[in-house]
Amino acid sequence: MAAQHKVAVVTGASTGIGEAAGRALVKAGWKVAFAARRAELLEKIVADCGAANALAVATDVSKPDSVKNLFAKTTQKFGRLDLLFNNAGMGAPPVPMDELPYEKWKEVVDVNLNGMFLCAQEAFRIFRKQNPQGGRIINNGSISAHAPRPFSVAYTTTKHAVTGLTKCIALDGRAYDICGSQIDIGNAVTPMTERMTKGVPQPNGTTMVEPRMDVQHVADAIVYMAGLPKESNVLTMTVMATKMPFVGRG
Ligand SMILES: NC(=O)c1ccc[n+]([C@@H]2O[C@H](COP(=O)([O-])OP(=O)(O)OC[C@H]3O[C@@H](n4cnc5c(N)ncnc54)[C@H](OP(=O)(O)O)[C@@H]3O)[C@@H](O)[C@H]2O)c1
Repeated sequence: MAAQHKVAVVTGASTGIGEAAGRALVKAGWKVAFAARRAELLEKIVADCGAANALAVATDVSKPDSVKNLFAKTTQKFGRLDLLFNNAGMGAPPVPMDELPYEKWKEVVDVNLNGMFLCAQEAFRIFRKQNPQGGRIINNGSISAHAPRPFSVAYTTTKHAVTGLTKCIALDGRAYDICGSQIDIGNAVTPMTERMTKGVPQPNGTTMVEPRMDVQHVADAIVYMAGLPKESNVLTMTVMATKMPFVGRG
């Protein structure tokens, strides 16, 4: 891909997978807009990457105006858009589903599903209109897009829904050279998985410390998926800690 056709938005870029992927994309020659709510963290990352290659945009993906502002600022600074890494996400406390407050359910749906849709829709609009047309959206699913953990109804339901969003982007995007992709990650070292070092609930009622893997493996996978020419697409990729309980029955 020519250098002038490497502009990315990464959401949830203040920590964890988003930060690692954004930094890796800059290293690979992309111009990256880093988006999340905590502006002070984004500014530090942009200072490291250099202002010519990176932009910090304080964004709440659950708010339509905030999402519009993110994409407007990105195209204003970099001229076009070639990639959205739709990564921002959150979990809910692990409680039996009858004890999950409706407000918490709505908060998770608002970020993990509505936020991903809003960002995908805005990117789709830009991809369709720009010249040359097209681009790529990589949604961050999860192992939870395939199998639930105990007490994870909001997270698991939204991550299953992300798979539907990915497939719709892949199908509806064909006419406009828009690729829809999904990465399903298992146990990367980030603030979200910190609790795994102390033990997380298992289906048999026990609590177990789970193996994790370096987040850089995820960042490398994103750079690979993002760098493909538009004629090819990784529809789904699973990157997981080799020894985590998933394959088999536990
Ligand atoms: N780590 C794993 O093993 C793993 C496995 C499967 C899936 N994932 C997925 O990977 C994604 C990133 O998770 P992570 O592990 O890197 O955890 P993390 O470090 O907690 O990152 C979550 C990111 O999402 C952002 N975010 C949350 N709510 C937001 C909102 N309303 N608007 C904008 N940004 C928001 C946070 O930034 P602010 O708080 O600054 O807004 C933060 O940058 C999530 O979608 C998660 O489900 C992770």
